[in-house]
Amino acid sequence: MKNVIYLSLVASVGLATLAGCGKTTNPTLTSPDGTIAVEVSAKAGKLYYTVDQGRQPVLNDSRLGLVLGEGDLADGLRITNVEHTSFDQTWEQPWGEERTVRNHYNEMSVTVEQQDSGRTFAVVFRVFDDGIGFRYEFPQQEALGKFVVMDELTEFALAGNHTAWSIPAETQYYEALYASGPAGSLATAVSTPLTMQTADGHYLSIHEAALTDYPALNLVAPQVGTPTLKADPTRWSTGEVAFMEAPRTTPWRTLIVAGSPGGLILSRLMLNLNEPSQIEDTSWIEPGRYIGVWWGMHTERYTWYQGPKHGATTENVKRYIDFAAAHNFAGVLVEGWNDGWQNDWTVEGDKFSFTRTYSDFDLEEITRYAARKNVKLIGHHETGGATKNYEAQIEDAFALYQKYGVDVVKTGYVSPLLDGKERHSSQYGVRHYRKVIETAARYHIMIDNHEPVMPSGLQRTWPNLMTQEGVRGQEWDAWSTDGGNPPEHTTVIPFTRGLAGPMDFTPGTFYFTNPVHPGTRVQTTVAKQLALSVILYSPLQMASDEIENYEGNPAFEFITRCPTNWETTSVPEAVIGSHVVIARRDRDSDEWFVGAITNAEARAVSLPLDFLETGVSYNARIFCDGPGADYRTDPYPVEIIDTQVDSTSTLDLNLAPGGGSAIILTKL
Ligand code: NOJ
Repeated sequence: MKNVIYLSLVASVGLATLAGCGKTTNPTLTSPDGTIAVEVSAKAGKLYYTVDQGRQPVLNDSRLGLVLGEGDLADGLRITNVEHTSFDQTWEQPWGEERTVRNHYNEMSVTVEQQDSGRTFAVVFRVFDDGIGFRYEFPQQEALGKFVVMDELTEFALAGNHTAWSIPAETQYYEALYASGPAGSLATAVSTPLTMQTADGHYLSIHEAALTDYPALNLVAPQVGTPTLKADPTRWSTGEVAFMEAPRTTPWRTLIVAGSPGGLILSRLMLNLNEPSQIEDTSWIEPGRYIGVWWGMHTERYTWYQGPKHGATTENVKRYIDFAAAHNFAGVLVEGWNDGWQNDWTVEGDKFSFTRTYSDFDLEEITRYAARKNVKLIGHHETGGATKNYEAQIEDAFALYQKYGVDVVKTGYVSPLLDGKERHSSQYGVRHYRKVIETAARYHIMIDNHEPVMPSGLQRTWPNLMTQEGVRGQEWDAWSTDGGNPPEHTTVIPFTRGLAGPMDFTPGTFYFTNPVHPGTRVQTTVAKQLALSVILYSPLQMASDEIENYEGNPAFEFITRCPTNWETTSVPEAVIGSHVVIARRDRDSDEWFVGAITNAEARAVSLPLDFLETGVSYNARIFCDGPGADYRTDPYPVEIIDTQVDSTSTLDLNLAPGGGSAIILTKL
């Protein structure tokens, strides 16, 4: 793929002066297609920006600025310089929802000076056809060396009191159900992405990109009833937002503006605002589908610690390897292989060893056995939130796995606070996670990070950061006291958490009886579990059930055939909280895979196949809810139907309550 790059350098410099009256106009910037416009102004020494789309306000006057330990950067400000540039480049993703991404924006850098302190900073805006990003840049200067951010004043003054889907920022690891309500009535700080629907059917989502050495963004509505949201990044336990030293930048604050829910999913704004890959040779980075010695732990058939019910025994793992080899899975995740699980590990994470195996787990023998069968062991580092203990062992830990050919490691941080003190989304957490990603890259190890800070597109820069949790995943259906994830959950998360990047949700349940918590279970049909493999994008995806539950089930074919890396993606239909249809073309073949899911309501969906190549016949193999399927009473019936279609065909899909359809389209 040839990159098309044209960069028009400084198109205008300095402040425009209105002829004759000596009055300065406000700096403005429009998107390449001219529909989205940003205007920056300084009024009475305070800095503001607005965003319009098609001349309709999206954000009214919204404050910019920071409060520092060394005084504020919010008052006494004046704009001293404005520079415009443009950029248009198409780049290729080593893996992703599509192969190529166009990065096309106009940029405006607004330099601001604080008269009294002599400090300067810039606010750099990039406006794309599907939204905006902006960040603060602090150049090297006498007046600002080391500094402490105590508060970020950035606002998003929404032009309406839109419906927002949110989770409280206090939620542990972002594992909550999204609630919808007016953006101006948010009772607590909420996490981003914060996705909203406007009264006239537009969709907005506020988030961030390239989160580096700064805490994660949260939002608050300081005045209840007024839909002005203010940045409220996670603080250190001691109250500071971030410790910085010029020259530095903050992460990008982002706003996607879309005409449909699908437009949110297809926006690549966040990825475009991250830096290109730091890993030159990405040939060792490979997406894939795997299974795991995992669900059995969550349903208490197995234990993580060594004992009579130990899951990670050499013998049991070999059984999983045999199954993976027979069904074309790339790997087997094994949790509970290392010393430390026998402790109260969410508070005694510092007792974990990442090199000492339990005596009934033979790492050398297992990896040798797996390699013979062309299957990889997928490693696991649960830290119990003890990052210092992990960092002290990290080189040895990755070196050990590298020695045995383990090139994917799932990491985890189950504990309310890191090292008993700092939040996962704090600057402390962000620094730690980055250290792990960069260290793993040196050992050619891919990362699946659980209990993360909310993702922000860093996989563009570090493509070994494959997938992350940060979502209320399928494991909640094993033990949650509220009965498990309600059916609408998966019709919301593609438009909220999903906009932040790949989600390790782990669909794939085929057996619904819960022996330990009978009131809790997966609230879908089997067909919807299949469809979720397409709907919930993740380049590494684990079929979550125990292997015994897949054996002999014809519906399993869909999981074994569904890729995890895509050439292109389209969203034929979606209503947030109701139903979602996503179609994706395999990166390595001409096959298309479609997932269609509904909430608790049965639903008829018409699916035009106009995304298929014209003039070509395809076989559609449809895995749909069979007669009587209903997530409440009988999740099991799946019908498999083959029919010949082309790009002019429309498929009528009948989704059961809590149901779905999964389709493979193969050229004839
Ligand atoms: C929580 C993770 O999300 C889950 O997948 C894992 O099994 C446990 N922690 C133990 O590490």
